[in-house]
Amino acid sequence: MEKLSNYTFNRANGFRLKYFFLVFLLLNFFALVAQPFLIPQPQKIELTSGYFPFSASTTFDLSNNEENQTLELLNSKIKLLFGFEINGSKPKFSENFISFQLNNELQPEEYKIKIAEKSISILYGKKAAQHAISTLVQLFYFNKNSTGASKIPCMSVEDVPVFKWRGMHLDVSRHFFPVTFIKKYIDILSLYKMNSFHWHLTDDQGWRIEIKKYPKLTSIGAWRKGSMLGRYRDHNIDTVSYGGFYTQDEIREIVSYAAARNINIVPEIEMPGHSLAALSAYPEFACIDSVFEAAKTWGVFDDVYCTKEKTFVFMEEILEEVCTLFPSEFIHIGGDEVPKTRWKTCPNCQNRIKSEGLKNEEELQSYFIRRIEKFINSKGKKIIGWDEILEGGLAPNAAVMSWRGTEGGIAAAKQKHNVVMSPGSHCYFDHYQSTPEFEPIAIGGFTPVQKVYAYDPVPTELSAEEKKFILGAQGNVWTEYITTASDVERMAVPRVIALSEVLWTPKQNCDWENFSNRLHEHQQFLKIMGINSSSSIYDVLYKSIPSDNNDYAIELQSQKSGKIYYTINGKNPTTDDQLYTKPIKLNATATLKAALFLENDSTGKLLEKKFYHSLSSGKKITFIEPPSSYYKGENGFHLVNGILESGAEIRNKCTGWCNADAEFEIDLGKICSIKKISVYYLNDKKNEIFPPQNIIFSFSKKSGGTELKNISHSNSVHINGDHVIEEFENCKARFVHVRVLNPKRITNNNSAKKDCWILLDEIHIE
Ligand code: ACM
Ligand code: ZN
Repeated sequence: MEKLSNYTFNRANGFRLKYFFLVFLLLNFFALVAQPFLIPQPQKIELTSGYFPFSASTTFDLSNNEENQTLELLNSKIKLLFGFEINGSKPKFSENFISFQLNNELQPEEYKIKIAEKSISILYGKKAAQHAISTLVQLFYFNKNSTGASKIPCMSVEDVPVFKWRGMHLDVSRHFFPVTFIKKYIDILSLYKMNSFHWHLTDDQGWRIEIKKYPKLTSIGAWRKGSMLGRYRDHNIDTVSYGGFYTQDEIREIVSYAAARNINIVPEIEMPGHSLAALSAYPEFACIDSVFEAAKTWGVFDDVYCTKEKTFVFMEEILEEVCTLFPSEFIHIGGDEVPKTRWKTCPNCQNRIKSEGLKNEEELQSYFIRRIEKFINSKGKKIIGWDEILEGGLAPNAAVMSWRGTEGGIAAAKQKHNVVMSPGSHCYFDHYQSTPEFEPIAIGGFTPVQKVYAYDPVPTELSAEEKKFILGAQGNVWTEYITTASDVERMAVPRVIALSEVLWTPKQNCDWENFSNRLHEHQQFLKIMGINSSSSIYDVLYKSIPSDNNDYAIELQSQKSGKIYYTINGKNPTTDDQLYTKPIKLNATATLKAALFLENDSTGKLLEKKFYHSLSSGKKITFIEPPSSYYKGENGFHLVNGILESGAEIRNKCTGWCNADAEFEIDLGKICSIKKISVYYLNDKKNEIFPPQNIIFSFSKKSGGTELKNISHSNSVHINGDHVIEEFENCKARFVHVRVLNPKRITNNNSAKKDCWILLDEIHIE
């Protein structure tokens, strides 16, 4: 090989290089400009000259091979987008036709599209027909003109995915969704080239798959006698019977529907935990002699399958039918959240531990999974389970789905086991995707689209060799708080679209700005397709942040870039109002109204939020009694950040003390005249959060306990609703010492065993 240093740079070379570079840039620019809308972005697009006219008179070539199904799939989308269907023709026309051809030399998920002026020719690997269809319908739609037809720029597309497991999950146990919706969900997945549907078919709240050998699983186990209304913590349960299940005929129909769209269905049969619904039908497989019911509430329950011999017969006979119904290479066996409570005192389980020479109940769980794995392997299939299946030792051939962060996935890959990444931080689509107080109730968390898009499924902790075990990633839609099909769509879309590009497109080609522009174009496309997509990327998110001079400032942000205009005078903002360029400081309490503007039009929801401003705003807090590590409230800043919290996530925004008084000092920065102090707190006695017993204010011109003077509180401080207001006369101080008495101290009676929390939201000093 010639040494590179032999190359000598001269002006002519330099010019040629520059010229070449310019042409290269221009070609790329045109490729991007002409096709800025495809999601996921294909690996390679090369534009050539001319256009292919697409209209109702375009035909589909059926002369070479049987592509009737492809034509049907293509037409189902064309019909929605254009209102017409195209005809198949045999022999093929000499112009304006589309041809599909299977090519076994391509990788299974690889496809190539060549668009010329007279024809569109597609070659596809054996699992890639749907991928080519998805690209094609996007090309047709996004090049549609006012006449309702399209002029598609001539080009060649060469495309293949980066990851081989591109999955979405759906929990149909907490809430049940009918066959028509399962098909629609599969359609959504296939439209964005996902290839795996993890169907969470069994859980405590309902068994959803017909098993011929055990009919009570569905006649009894598919029904619960009530469901939770609202948040878990409110503990309201209705008495309405709720349930449903899929017959084996329906499952076969769905499996075949999915296969036609290159979606593999991975069924999940939960074991040994999350099994109350099954135990309600067949209580003989539990550790204790009892009667069980499908759960009405969400959570993790102590009653799990017993490890006695007959349970394994039961499980294997169920799995026998499951393996026959689903062609999937993988069967998901759950394995998560298994309390060992019952096993610890069950004679059968303790015998099992002894007879198998196991150390403890963790190893008993591993024994359970290994036995099931042996059975599934004997059917020519593999198991995949949640990352708890690592505990007590991984079964020899098991794949791991990493949900409690990435650690489980990393550990499994290091042990040379296949891994699907699905960490709560980026892949739980049951989390909030916008400001919780303005969103319907979700389970918690905050996983906006932009965060999903930033996900890299391959942990940097792994070596190149270990990285090969990361098959891909999966988004999970748990449905405790998702009750309707339309809500499933709102939670899944557009996060699934972001995940689809993360998993399909090489990382170096992923760019949020570019993606969010394409996603913006897709919103209308989704609407026409009848898909309910969240518009959260246009929401204005707010945050109170510490600013200079011991104050706070309001930071505004949107995921989609654009201009944010705002007002603090009550008017709805227009482009004539204040343009947001830096965090906003207030000098009095005000209601902020803000909205994102794209091309001078307001887009998305109007943010409307009151911010309080007083002498204490953003001032330094010194804790005398430190708050609980769970509710530290950003070292006191949350007490003075100007926001009266609301919404489902309110607790996490408060500062909390457990079984102790709250005690702290506020430094107002200078001596001020103090007339009134308002203390806002949470009152949620059901959840051990109590109003203050009393509040003692002390004032001083200097900091520190012994210096405190001018104590002017009264024992009869007025406690009302969710706040306390105390008024003062002739009070001048720089330091305000606040002690909020925890009622536990005073009412130390029989209920004293319970925790007693004080959760403070805001302190306003005027
Ligand atoms: C899970 O979220 N329990 C796997
Ligand atoms: Zn037992």
